[in-house]
Amino acid sequence: TEFETILVEVSDGIATLTLNRPKALNALNLQVLEDVTAAAEAADADDDIRVIVLTGQDRAFAAGADIKEMSTLDFSVAYRRNWFAGWNRLTAVSKPIITAVNGFALGGGCELAMMGDILIASEKAKFGQPEINLGVLPGMGGSQRLTRAVGKAKAMDLCLTGRMMDAEEAERAGLVARVVPHDELAATAREIAETIAAKSLIAAGMVKEAVNAAFETTLEQGLRYERRLFHSSLATADQSEGMAAFIEKRDPHFTDS
Ligand code: HXC
Repeated sequence: TEFETILVEVSDGIATLTLNRPKALNALNLQVLEDVTAAAEAADADDDIRVIVLTGQDRAFAAGADIKEMSTLDFSVAYRRNWFAGWNRLTAVSKPIITAVNGFALGGGCELAMMGDILIASEKAKFGQPEINLGVLPGMGGSQRLTRAVGKAKAMDLCLTGRMMDAEEAERAGLVARVVPHDELAATAREIAETIAAKSLIAAGMVKEAVNAAFETTLEQGLRYERRLFHSSLATADQSEGMAAFIEKRDPHFTDS
């Protein structure tokens, strides 16, 4: 399928979605929301795809929600249409999503990067929640996911001052899993995706569910949820194969069953 605002490339079980509005630094308008969520849902439903990579290009991952589009938005429309809630379609995707941040990830761009499962950044990446400079505040999870990722001190600092932080600070703060040289970002994202693509899709889905539960539940509920998922994993052919392969000193061949 062709999309207006993103490029989609599929190979070896990996769907790479590249935001493609470079002149607007990949600002996120309604069409981008529709395209990214539709492409991610299609990849999720496609048995031949195992991992999704979401990235930007040139100087930007995404410089935020589209300010020109938002400038005409008023309370009644935003409230009635539940503006930005459509992004929940992306966080409902069950396959692993790697967000590879190549440049500016500001406002909605930072929030979009945080909707993925593994966030990797180039040395040129810049993160921030500059909404306060526009007289508003984050609206796609910045005050919530960022606070969970980096804690209150830095979340308040970023959201109240609107300053940018570089990739090194973001990694130190726990927002970013890995920082890599700029020209190695795509290859690293690919390498991580290939590594995960070789696993059982069921085990990978369970890992994603279990880690995400840590953000939604008490420790006791989360531990119980993890344990029950672990028990369930014993019902899969992939568990028998994975353990047999270890014992027989060979590579496992998972079948997602
Ligand atoms: C629409 C944008 C944009 C955005 C950049 N552009 N960001 N258009 N929405 N968020 C456009 C510019 O208007 C310009 O178009 C072109 O991209 C290049 O940007 P410049 O500003 O000329 O580049 P530069 O001087 O290098 O500055 C880069 C930048 C700056 C620091 C990233 O563009 C910037 O501050 N952008 C806005 C960042 C921001 O505030 N994001 C949060 C948005 S609110 P033209 O046509 O002039 O060449 C948000 C939260 C939503 O995301 C939820 C709460 C409401």
